[in-house]
Amino acid sequence: KIVPVIMAGGKGTRLWPLSRSSAPKQFIRFLEDETLFQKALQRVQDSSRYTAPIILTNEDFRFLVAEQARELDIALSSILLEPVARNTAPAIAAAAVLIKERFGPDAVMQVLASDHEIEADETFYACIDRAAATAREGKLVAFGIEPSEPATGYGYVEAGDELPGGAAAVVRFVEKPDRENAQKMIETGRFTWNSGMFMFPVTPLIAELEQHAPDVIKHARHAFEQVQNDPALDFTRLDADIFAQCPDISIDYAVMEKTSAAAVVASSFAWSDLGSWDAIWKDGEKDADGNVISGNATVLNSSNSLVISRDMHVALQDVQDKAVIVSEDAVYVGSLKSSQNVGQIVKQLKADR
Ligand code: GDD
Ligand code: MG
Repeated sequence: KIVPVIMAGGKGTRLWPLSRSSAPKQFIRFLEDETLFQKALQRVQDSSRYTAPIILTNEDFRFLVAEQARELDIALSSILLEPVARNTAPAIAAAAVLIKERFGPDAVMQVLASDHEIEADETFYACIDRAAATAREGKLVAFGIEPSEPATGYGYVEAGDELPGGAAAVVRFVEKPDRENAQKMIETGRFTWNSGMFMFPVTPLIAELEQHAPDVIKHARHAFEQVQNDPALDFTRLDADIFAQCPDISIDYAVMEKTSAAAVVASSFAWSDLGSWDAIWKDGEKDADGNVISGNATVLNSSNSLVISRDMHVALQDVQDKAVIVSEDAVYVGSLKSSQNVGQIVKQLKADR
């Protein structure tokens, strides 16, 4: 069986003011009843394919994770707590050590982001099974999404020779290129976007970490050896002082850009990173004028806008292409087109404080 590992420790600053450092993107309700984290949990519930999931998260979010799993009555294998945020590579490294110990050296782990919108249909599970078979051959597998624009917030994966089973070897993995390079890569027709989900065989993953990111695996392993268990709540605490010695680096930079054991599965399931208000608007259900409205709003002569407001009543008049986001204690109004830059506001707010 595949061991699902859900990464739920990110801060999601581009969705301010709904996404806050106390309750980031993956744990909040945007337009639907379930949070993105809960949807990620539901994606890995088929017990013929999956073991119970492991959650990787920050100490600060432990109760959000436990509560949201309990709400759906989903049992977790464990909640691995990072005492400090060190990005995804150290967290994944610690999970690999845990899984190897608990599930054996041949285990395969599926690493999922907790903040994506994915349609988990037959196409999705066909890709999962193909990736798992490729991972069992020792490959570190990425999922390649057909790119629609030269986005700079994604990793780009160049597919090479086809491997038995239908995946392709990876020629090059380029994390977050600038716009010019992204454009060039797209024009070749050989690149897809990295979805941010991976299928890793644990023993080869640990070997690749040892080769390309020795400080990550060394301190992550050591922090896991000194782990504190809180069995009543499934919390597994990594040692704080040791884990803090891990460099702050994502798995994309630490391993995927460097390894020669990567493979990619072409993925045609519906996927959205939901990384900005613009992406949420694109994903949402639109009225006749292209507005996406969640909550209480009166809209006159306005189009192609996104309104999210839980309690406050919002009225729009003669407004085009805007995001209007109302949280309990802050309001954001901005152009949907530039909503990739909301992170700048968060920086400014921190500087002003
Ligand atoms: N446990 C834990 N600890 N999780 C983390 C941490 C951390 O320190 N930092 C981030 N995460 C979680 C986030 O919550 C998210 O679910 C996932 O890991 C990915 O992190 P992001 O910070 O959202 O990464 P990204 O969007 O910049 O880039 C990644 O995803 C893209 C697709 O959305 C990369 O894999 C790109 O190559 C990829 O294209
Ligand atoms: Mg992301």
